[in-house]
Amino acid sequence: MKRAIIEGGRLLQGEVRISGAKNAALPELAASLLTAHELVLHRVPRVKDVETMLELLLELGGEVHVGEDVRIKMERVQGETREELFRAMRASVLVLGPQLARFGRGEILWPGGCSIGERPIDFHLRALEKMGAEIREENGRIKARARKLKGAKIRFPRITVTGTENIMMAASLARGETLIENPALEPEVKDLSRLLVKMGAGISWERDGLHIEGVDELKGAEHTVIPDRIEAGTFLVAGALAGGDVKISGCNPAHLKAVLGAAGEAGVEFESGEDWIRVKGGRDFLPLHIETREYPGFPTDMQAQMMVLLCFARGTSTVRDNIFPHRFRHGEELRKMGANIEIYPGKAIIKRVRKLRGTKVLATDLRASASLVIAGLVAQGRTVVEDIFHLKRGYEDFFQKLRNLGAEIKEE
Ligand code: EPZ
Repeated sequence: MKRAIIEGGRLLQGEVRISGAKNAALPELAASLLTAHELVLHRVPRVKDVETMLELLLELGGEVHVGEDVRIKMERVQGETREELFRAMRASVLVLGPQLARFGRGEILWPGGCSIGERPIDFHLRALEKMGAEIREENGRIKARARKLKGAKIRFPRITVTGTENIMMAASLARGETLIENPALEPEVKDLSRLLVKMGAGISWERDGLHIEGVDELKGAEHTVIPDRIEAGTFLVAGALAGGDVKISGCNPAHLKAVLGAAGEAGVEFESGEDWIRVKGGRDFLPLHIETREYPGFPTDMQAQMMVLLCFARGTSTVRDNIFPHRFRHGEELRKMGANIEIYPGKAIIKRVRKLRGTKVLATDLRASASLVIAGLVAQGRTVVEDIFHLKRGYEDFFQKLRNLGAEIKEE
């Protein structure tokens, strides 16, 4: 499937159930490398990035069973893996820390990822060196060695989600204590730490940072992945623009405080409970000035979706992405649909338009794809979103979920 064809103007009504969080499942799958015993994960989303991680673990010598849940046993790890698996997904860097900690060696390629700007992994590598790893690069491959990682005090140059996850996993089997002074606080990072504690890791979140007391061995565990807060936020924006009346169930509104706060400020009509959000379609929105921040701030993974809503907000809105300053290619595509968006380094200025017009647009990264689909739902006429493989990386059954709500979307 290459493209999605969306007929604008259909009203969204009904209920959508949110899947497990891709960005929690990926590190939790990698955590299977830390033990010879079986890991059982429930609510793993069936998305491309998860398939890539499972292929990676299989090729590393794992036993992988995918049914209602995902069962993995990494009794031994061997050999090389296909280069394209590493290139396909930035999160492949997450296999480095666990391999190094358990086997004393690890090898990855410079990871790929989507086109939201430079995606370095220097913070990961420097921190592992501080824990005693020797890391060298040989024709595009990163080879790491460590007789036995030792605990260290780590302060990342800036907060990093997968950097925190990688070091948390590596430190779980290191000798002595590791302190990460500025850990990422994303719900997905916390969920990984809960899994590691179930496996026997000595992890505690304190005021001065994240403490990990290394242990000799970790055991298997069973765990349910938290719901995907970005998928829930994506449906919130879709419902605000194209609803009707949409109930988003199986989510955790407590993980979406910044997004719900912004939606409320913009005049989106919604209510929420323990594990659901109900949103009513609106026509009149107020402008916002959004700054993306590390959690609990407004997430960079939601700015593309929110920009579509801001196209219809009275007055002038701004979005500044402090995490990925180049993450505005969706702005250029929305302009093709008639949006009034100006893009500057790190920032977009959005002015109100009466309508968006369906046309052919190009998806460039995971969340940009979602924002273009949302725009297609409310545009006049037909929108064709090319390269929707980006969307398949991180949204489970996205089009079917939208069709079940009344959207008219074809894939070809
Ligand atoms: C994670 O990416 C997420 N991916 C991203 O989600 C998300 O956008 C990002 O965190 C920010 O929230 C996964 O969890 C798999 P960072 P990550 O390390 O860990 C710089 C999606 O849509 N940096 O927190 O790669 C980096 O360039 C994806 O699901 C370095 O300079 O992001 C960025 O400016 C997209 N060197 C900032 O730090 C490093 O070694 C934060 O990046 C690492 C990061």
